[in-house]
Amino acid sequence: MNQLQLFLPCAAGVEDFLATEVQAITTSAHDQRTRKMRGGVMVDGSWRDAMQLNLRSRLAQRVLVQLYHGEYRNERDLYEAASRVAWEIWFTPRETFKIEITAQHSPLTSLNFAALKIKDAVADRFRAKTSVRPDVNTQWPDVRIHAHLTTDTVTLYMDTSGEPLFKRGWREDKGDAPLKETLAAAMIAASGWDARTPLYDPCCGSGTIVIEAAQIACNIAPGALRRFAFEKLLPFQRHVWTALLEQAQAAQHAPTTDVFGSDVAHRMVDFAQRNAQRAGVAHAVNLRGGDALQRRPPAPAGVMLVNPPYGERIAVAGVAGTPARSAGREAAQTDDGGDFFPQLATHWKKHYAGWTAWVLTPDLKLPSRMRLKESRRVPMWNGPIECRLFRFDMVAGSARERAPTAPSPT
Ligand SMILES: C[S@@+](CC[C@H](N)C(=O)[O-])C[C@H]1O[C@@H](n2cnc3c(N)ncnc32)[C@H](O)[C@@H]1O
Repeated sequence: MNQLQLFLPCAAGVEDFLATEVQAITTSAHDQRTRKMRGGVMVDGSWRDAMQLNLRSRLAQRVLVQLYHGEYRNERDLYEAASRVAWEIWFTPRETFKIEITAQHSPLTSLNFAALKIKDAVADRFRAKTSVRPDVNTQWPDVRIHAHLTTDTVTLYMDTSGEPLFKRGWREDKGDAPLKETLAAAMIAASGWDARTPLYDPCCGSGTIVIEAAQIACNIAPGALRRFAFEKLLPFQRHVWTALLEQAQAAQHAPTTDVFGSDVAHRMVDFAQRNAQRAGVAHAVNLRGGDALQRRPPAPAGVMLVNPPYGERIAVAGVAGTPARSAGREAAQTDDGGDFFPQLATHWKKHYAGWTAWVLTPDLKLPSRMRLKESRRVPMWNGPIECRLFRFDMVAGSARERAPTAPSPT
């Protein structure tokens, strides 16, 4: 298990940050080779690296071991391909399994049928080798096999993660529009936050950004609270995994800086507080109720990271916003019908000199709406929604303002 080809899928736009993260996590291994691909990163690594990446990656969606890559034309070729993989070194027929199939421009008419052929090949190979066929369980499989089809190639992977990695194991209290943990981590990575500068999310909701940041400030591994599919695979050795967990535990420390969050909805602040407790960072985050249009900076200077509300009427009286009847997702209005973002910009210009604000938005015209000139724009995807992470530098005296000219659409 010393030379595995590991593929870590991630959201589009996150590949560069993930490649840097993968290199940092796997530096102990020799001869690491990391290759950026569209939608993920490929790295040569060991079984131990696969476990470390599951434990420590904040940006990957999962960690897959590539077991086959070749050409195909039809379902019979898929059956042949899956028959050639030595599944019996990965699991026994006592484990249940499932085929997860994805495709890009595949000529096949039914992906379900393609998955069925791969499933048959796996089961038939087990029957030939052991006289027993493993069962399929589509809901809670012990083992997930991923198949990815392009126009003419098939790649088969063993999934070492199981539940996707954004499920860190601490979220029980969700808000209405929680950010995925992996996307919050991507915002933090893109901002270049050094974990020494104070960080503040003035619309923190259930606390995703501040909890990710606080875990970074305390060096808490994101996967320390959850189980992984690799624990049911044959190469798994409990003592090696326990040692990795103990190492991670021993590396935790007191927070290197202050992390602040606030939200106008007190219910959300309660959620964030409970989530922070489960994530082991209740001591490292400072959470409050409060309107972002009124709250003063919690430190003289720092970094704001914000996933602001969209398409909702914002209540200033301490309750969650309700969807505005006619608002598009780019619109957000205050209780009195005013436009939220210009008011937020005015507040920041007046009180937040010395701060840098990073705002994730699907509204590509947000800078002109706020009459601020962005100093960076990073493309990011929130699920299927194309977003930008805009950086605004709130310069002492006055912010970098822009004339309300027509914005460029990218
Ligand atoms: C898109 S959600 C943020 C979700 C958050 N990132 C999470 O992961 O749960 C926007 C949040 O802004 C809050 N909000 C709306 N208006 C606000 C205001 N004027 N001041 C502060 N927070 C506000 C909402 O209560 C909501 O929790």
